[in-house]
Amino acid sequence: MVKIRIVAAKNGPNLVEIDGKVKTALCRCGASKNKPYCDGSHAKIGFEAEEAVAFEFEA
Ligand code: FES
Repeated sequence: MVKIRIVAAKNGPNLVEIDGKVKTALCRCGASKNKPYCDGSHAKIGFEAEEAVAFEFEA
């Protein structure tokens, strides 16, 4: 059984987690120069957003 979660990090990217380990970070601020991946630009532009679990399931 594998647990998959997509978590919107506070003031940061959408984190794709598999069994509790972050596998990739996807940009949700729109400023990344390496879309769809987060390149840390959210910190430079002062992106603000709440943390939330967007998606979670076990397969
Ligand atoms: S969320 Fe990190 S660069 Fe957009």
